[in-house]
Amino acid sequence: MTITILLDIQTYLFNGGRKIEVITTIDEMQKRADGWRQSGKTIVFVPTMGFLHEGHLALMRRGREYGDILVISIFVNPTQFGPQEDFETYPRDFERDRRLAESVGVDVIFAPQNDEMYGERFQTYVSLEELPQHLCGLSRPNHFRGVATIVSKLFNIVKPHVSIFGEKDYQQLVIIRQMVRDLNFDIRIVGAPTVREPDGLAMSSRNNYLSPEERRSASVLFQSLKLAQKSVAEGERDARKLINAASAHIKSVPHTQIDYVTICDPETLDDVDQIGGPVLMALAVKVGKTRLIDNTILKPKGN
Ligand code: PAJ
Repeated sequence: MTITILLDIQTYLFNGGRKIEVITTIDEMQKRADGWRQSGKTIVFVPTMGFLHEGHLALMRRGREYGDILVISIFVNPTQFGPQEDFETYPRDFERDRRLAESVGVDVIFAPQNDEMYGERFQTYVSLEELPQHLCGLSRPNHFRGVATIVSKLFNIVKPHVSIFGEKDYQQLVIIRQMVRDLNFDIRIVGAPTVREPDGLAMSSRNNYLSPEERRSASVLFQSLKLAQKSVAEGERDARKLINAASAHIKSVPHTQIDYVTICDPETLDDVDQIGGPVLMALAVKVGKTRLIDNTILKPKGN
């Protein structure tokens, strides 16, 4: 922790104590990006919805290693929220985010308003055929259409060479990689590992919604993934048995309601019955009213 903070201070000083720049219009962002590209700079981009935590900051620190100019976006994207979801109440604190981003050496925050991104007659969406028909896509029907659309728009606005996404949102990462391949975006996508609280809970802006009692229950997501990892290390290969054991563990904890517990192929996200190689175990659980997700790769010995 101390080392990270020292590195951040060092980054800030290397930046010449230069102030972070905030850009709110598409036109200005594109012009800046063109300028950097013309002078041969490599642009690295980390898209976020703000209310930054260590998970986001880890992506930004990583981003610094991949290029010259580090841009992040802060935009709570309305098209990826369902009608009953938390778009209105999603936590927002721009000043705090600005300070945190500056401390890890971000050069520019792109922070547009809704009507800058979605004009009155907006009608073009990016949607994938198969990958959203799994995991979170089943209970959040238009979510990944919203994600693919906003990320495409942001790519066209920020014009990055490299963009970093967290493995915490594994399905999102797979979808972005597929979209980049299918639509020939000339951008390198980098996945970064999940950053966790000391009890294993994956960091998320939504953890903020949890009451102290729910917060204690929330560590069950990570515990049940650990349980499965241990069983696989001990030789279990039957996905159904692993799913049942994890589900029983989750149900034994108060305030929890399972959305899904799945074991699937890490690329296609199709269900797997017998574990023959590395597979993805992913889960979504409501703790109180807050929906949390987590995942891990299960690797049988010798893989
Ligand atoms: P948001 O939830 O703000 O996450 C921004 C990025 O941070 C995503 O790539 C996400 O996977 C990553 N991230 C979140 N928690 C993390 C953790 N604990 N460890 C590592 N990385 C973590 O994901 C979105 O926003 C949006 O869907 C977005 C891509 C910005 C499109 O609107």
